[in-house]
Amino acid sequence: MYSILKAEKLNENIYLMIVKAPRVAKHCLPGQFLIVKLDEKGERIPLTICDYDREQGTVTIVFQPVGASTEAMTALQTGDSFMDVVGPLGNPSELITGDLEETRKKKILFVAGGVGTAPVYPQVKWLHEHGVDADVIVGAKTKDLIILEKEMEAVAGNLYITTDDGSYGRSGMVTKVIEDLVAEGKQYDVCVSIGPMIMMKFCCLTTKKFDIPTIVSMNPIMVDGTGMCGACRLSVGDEIKFACVDGPEFDGHLIDFDEAMKRQQMYKTEEGRALLRLREGKTHHGGCGNCGGDN
Ligand code: NAD
Ligand code: FES
Repeated sequence: MYSILKAEKLNENIYLMIVKAPRVAKHCLPGQFLIVKLDEKGERIPLTICDYDREQGTVTIVFQPVGASTEAMTALQTGDSFMDVVGPLGNPSELITGDLEETRKKKILFVAGGVGTAPVYPQVKWLHEHGVDADVIVGAKTKDLIILEKEMEAVAGNLYITTDDGSYGRSGMVTKVIEDLVAEGKQYDVCVSIGPMIMMKFCCLTTKKFDIPTIVSMNPIMVDGTGMCGACRLSVGDEIKFACVDGPEFDGHLIDFDEAMKRQQMYKTEEGRALLRLREGKTHHGGCGNCGGDN
């Protein structure tokens, strides 16, 4: 069992937990995710790692209830446990695994949207600890939905907060802040954008205009996180990739976001999964157990 050492409600709809999981904490790196299971019959829930403490053997997860299993997770309190915590899974961010001297020469911009602030934080923190202070834009609908502000402030070069309704920080969506920063004379060699799919799509359209290579995290389309279900299939340039095994991070300028978002909707129904199986043939894994996949 994996004890929950701290369970905190960050705001109306976002929850943070610190979980004792020494093996995951020992090996994980920013950009990777883990899978939690509440009990024997529980669904596998893939969640990006928000922070880790190798000495304490703990990992921090931040989540928003989006279905029955994550809703059930919201009832867990300090002292409760998960039956299983598996990880680390997926590939670490390429800014973390790449040549550090090259990374130090780069001007990096992170764009975090809503709950996507959680997976951005460990990357910015790791870079800060290795002498790279990146600029960070954090966007949320309204002031109450901003998370991890103090933590981010401590590790970011410059932190730009924005709210859609102008209730805190700058006013407008994250893409407006990118435009404003470039107009103010800022130059970036790379952008990392993590948040809702629609935000990542529009960030990529914006950064493409300014010729800023952009990395995105395709966590939102994962279902089982193991390469079995086929839910996270996506087109990256002319290649077919699976977010959970090939990613979760990809070159955002090569991703077909419209196809990924449409597919995500289709995958939610049995009929949609059957249609995907028909269209995708052998590249549809079918591990969801519902459509028969490519058997
Ligand atoms: P949200 O809808 O409140 O959006 C957050 C911010 O994104 C907004 O404040 C805005 O600045 C920006 N944004 C939204 N739509 C935009 C658009 N059309 N153009 C430009 N900017 C736009 O975010 P939320 O409700 O906290 O997000 C929940 C989503 O985040 C879930 O769907 C979840 O799957 C996703 N998520 C993604 C990751 C990841 O790894 N990519 C991680 C955690 C959560
Ligand atoms: Fe990637 Fe299921 S989430 S195949």
